Amino acid sequence: MTLPGAASVIDYTDDLTSVREDMLRGFFVGWPKRPSARQHLALLRGSYRSVVAVDEAAQRVVGFVNMLSDGVLTAFIPWLEILPGYQGRGIGTELMRRILAGTERFYSIDLVCDEALLPYYARFAMISASSALVRHPGALEGCPPADP
Ligand SMILES: CC(C)(COP(=O)(O)OP(=O)(O)OC[C@H]1O[C@@H](n2cnc3c(N)ncnc32)[C@H](O)[C@@H]1OP(=O)(O)O)[C@@H](O)C(=O)NCCC(=O)NCCS
Repeated sequence: MTLPGAASVIDYTDDLTSVREDMLRGFFVGWPKRPSARQHLALLRGSYRSVVAVDEAAQRVVGFVNMLSDGVLTAFIPWLEILPGYQGRGIGTELMRRILAGTERFYSIDLVCDEALLPYYARFAMISASSALVRHPGALEGCPPADP
């Protein structure tokens, strides 16, 4: 059995000019309400830095990561996701490598994740710490319902 995208070549880029909304299908897996493709593209373009993994043959973004930053000392990585059919191929690792490249000048680079993912982020020298959060589910009202 061939996995989706198993034979495809993946390109990585931080240039979002050629990324279109219709290339951003299938993300936010498991969310009861998920951001629209328009919001998705806007958050990528509005970030300090975003990197996408593109399956050129399928004309599809298959993974993305973004970084918010003050550009001086601090940065935050709010999103990292690889489409299910493309996971376990090193795409997340390559996106993390690229988003972190050249950020040694920042004092802090933070992200929030489930405990199960701490060993994954430890690969990038990220250590565990406590955090404080607020979430507003209403911000996603009006977004498309999740995939069945
Ligand atoms: C977590 C995620 C980004 C990893 O990307 P990926 O391209 O599949 O990962 P890579 O191929 O670079 O690395 C694979 C390794 O990650 C580990 N890994 C993947 N998902 C994991 C999870 N949820 N918990 C713990 N480890 C995980 C795998 O066990 C594998 O380990 P191995 O190399 O020892 O076999 C991806 O699985 C994903 O998008 N998951 C859903 C969204 C998500 O959880 N995003 C992170 C939000 S903080």
